[in-house]
Amino acid sequence: MPQPSERFHQAPAEDLADRFRRTRALTENLLAPLSEADATIQSMDDASPAKWHAAHTTWFWETFLLRDHVPGYRLFDERWPFLFNSYYEAEGERIARGQRGLVTRPTLADALDWRAHVNAAMEPLLDDPRVAELVALGIAHEEQHIELLLTDIKHAFFKNPLGPAMWDKGETHTAKQGEGWISHPGGIARVGHQASGFAFDNEGPVHRVLLEPFALSRRLVTNGEWVQFIADGGYSDHRLWLSDAWAWVQRRGVAAPLYWRDGEHFTHAGWQERDADAPVCHISFFEADAFATWAGARLPSEFEWEAVARGQDAPDNASRFAADAGNQLDAACPPLPVGTPELFGDVWQFTRSAYLPYPRFQPVEGAVGEYNGKFMAGQWVLKGASCATVRGHSRPSYRNFFYSQQRWQFTGLRLAKDN
Ligand code: AVJ
Ligand code: FE
Repeated sequence: MPQPSERFHQAPAEDLADRFRRTRALTENLLAPLSEADATIQSMDDASPAKWHAAHTTWFWETFLLRDHVPGYRLFDERWPFLFNSYYEAEGERIARGQRGLVTRPTLADALDWRAHVNAAMEPLLDDPRVAELVALGIAHEEQHIELLLTDIKHAFFKNPLGPAMWDKGETHTAKQGEGWISHPGGIARVGHQASGFAFDNEGPVHRVLLEPFALSRRLVTNGEWVQFIADGGYSDHRLWLSDAWAWVQRRGVAAPLYWRDGEHFTHAGWQERDADAPVCHISFFEADAFATWAGARLPSEFEWEAVARGQDAPDNASRFAADAGNQLDAACPPLPVGTPELFGDVWQFTRSAYLPYPRFQPVEGAVGEYNGKFMAGQWVLKGASCATVRGHSRPSYRNFFYSQQRWQFTGLRLAKDN
């Protein structure tokens, strides 16, 4: 195993203003190949239209930065917050989540005009230290929506019987991942965000946890292994499944990951042959847990994963792994897991940790306090990052979260075991 110091990569220095412009442009570049109709439909309640993502992120900037911090700023259209407020009760009433696909007006062009207007209005705020924290939050927020835009449009295209493609397949080569286990001696670990730089409120406060000796797999579970799980009757053996999971499998007739058919899976480049060595993705927590049981292992806790990612043995407590390794997301090729040798990247990794507040957690003041804290019920923490995550978005303390049965995100698993 390489030494932590060799593995420490500092993200390239880039100021907030540049990151703002780059992130806004990335959203817009991802919209470019979409038709008005592609960008407007909503394929299920969990997924939002691409146009909605473009507009909601703009609503976030207009509301929490421009309205709140630019004296005299006038809303671009005062009827639009009703359409593009996601879930902020403090910001008032809003359209039901499942009705976002009914919003054919404003058009995509209207939404893009709004984006241009807000982008220009934001310029004077981008180097104002009084709002630097909020600008960093807005960038992280838009980065999250870039990933959601990608997973939501993938689901919408999947629902089309013709299975259209948003991108050409391009050149992807699946690499063989590492073998074996990373052993950790256990002990008292400091977890939570403890570096400089932005983090969401749910990543703190820093606190100590006690770990028993454990090991974390060097690789993500692959499509090939998942085929073995299926062939072994994994989906029909009740002994492998949690009770709620078994009820879900039975009720929904689940027998494979989302987006699988025969030897193929659905991608942003349409239906493609599945690669046995590529990490499995689009599985639910329920499936991840059943697979781990079948494999005679278990899912890691969020703290086990973080301790390995962080390299607790490193004197500077720096991350052992680059948080953007393995993520090849750009606006020119489809996101696809390719077998990264790193801990981060390819797929979000389920943990067996409930998404709960850390000791002494306090959501931030005001409406943005609704961002994370109020969702701390009934969800699971996922660690790492995926092939659809914007480079540099994640870190060892990052906590993604989803419900037990959701699987339209790029979700997969890495096994753990007791030592
Ligand atoms: C962290 C991905 C679960 O989808 O609601 C977007 C991200 N939060 N806008 C979500 C988010 C606010 C969040 N997840
Ligand atoms: Fe949002």
